[in-house]
Amino acid sequence: MQEHTQTIFETQFEEDVYKGLTDFPKHISSKYFYDAKGDKLFQDIMHMPEYYLTDCEFDILENHKAEIAELFGAGNYKFNLIELGAGDGKKTKILLKYLSENDFDFKYLPIDISQNILNGLEKSVNEELPKVKIQTMQGTYFETLKRINMENGARHIILFLGSNIGNLLHPQAIEFLKSVQQLMHEGDLFFVGFDMKKNPQTILDAYNDKSGITAAFNKNVLTRINNELGANFNLDGFLHWEVYNPESGTAKSYLVSQEKQSVSLEKLGLKVDFEPWETIHTEISQKYDDQIVNWLAEQAGLEIIDQFSDEKKLYKNYVFVKQ
Ligand code: AVJ
Repeated sequence: MQEHTQTIFETQFEEDVYKGLTDFPKHISSKYFYDAKGDKLFQDIMHMPEYYLTDCEFDILENHKAEIAELFGAGNYKFNLIELGAGDGKKTKILLKYLSENDFDFKYLPIDISQNILNGLEKSVNEELPKVKIQTMQGTYFETLKRINMENGARHIILFLGSNIGNLLHPQAIEFLKSVQQLMHEGDLFFVGFDMKKNPQTILDAYNDKSGITAAFNKNVLTRINNELGANFNLDGFLHWEVYNPESGTAKSYLVSQEKQSVSLEKLGLKVDFEPWETIHTEISQKYDDQIVNWLAEQAGLEIIDQFSDEKKLYKNYVFVKQ
């Protein structure tokens, strides 16, 4: 039985946590992983040997930067390089460096929900690549994309790296791609990173590392709820669990309650009961193949005009235009 005395929410986070923990089966969105501590843990994940995604995309950008730059700067038009969910920009800096050294006429517009991340990115770009014109934009993808499109007539090159799209199930991914498609003009490019299907063991290892960093990342959402919603989750009472279905290509993360326990979330006036081995689903990390990416593009009114892969074919960056 769930007890609740208050249902007025001050934030989306409160509402989503309330709904997710009173639903059956329980769930919490992975978008809530990323507070300051979560950002840091994700940085650590990107440095783990098991987390091949970052290295693959880094290699792709490094090995194909000249070709990619030619695509972006085709016809010598000036362009806006817009990055959705820019993060620390580590991979993007490979392109920024090449573009600025070769005098491409462009402006870098990183979009992120976290102003903190953006401040760090702006500072490091100014220091490392002083020639790059950068204008950070804090907000959700869509409100900021709309703002840019109204602003000027330059070409738009939209980057969405890191297989961030993998957090979306296919129907949501189509909706997302469609909304970007609707904001694109003729000649604009949409450059997206997709993690490909591969040996299932490689995927499980990437999301269930021996050092426990991914487990800490997953459990951090409980710490965040403890801190922000006055809850008393005992982190040791939960197990990080990863499954991968090689047929659907969906990896899922769970937190599994190791015992019967109750947690109270003071700010929500909510008490949540867990049965032994009851789950909270926290993240999906979708893996793709060419057929699926073709299908997603078609559904969203996009056309694939180019693609780049790492040597081992673990990961791909696709280039889309509006159909
Ligand atoms: C940032 C969503 C691409 O799903 O691979 C890493 C997040 N989760 N390890 C991913 C993540 C666990 C990551 N994305």
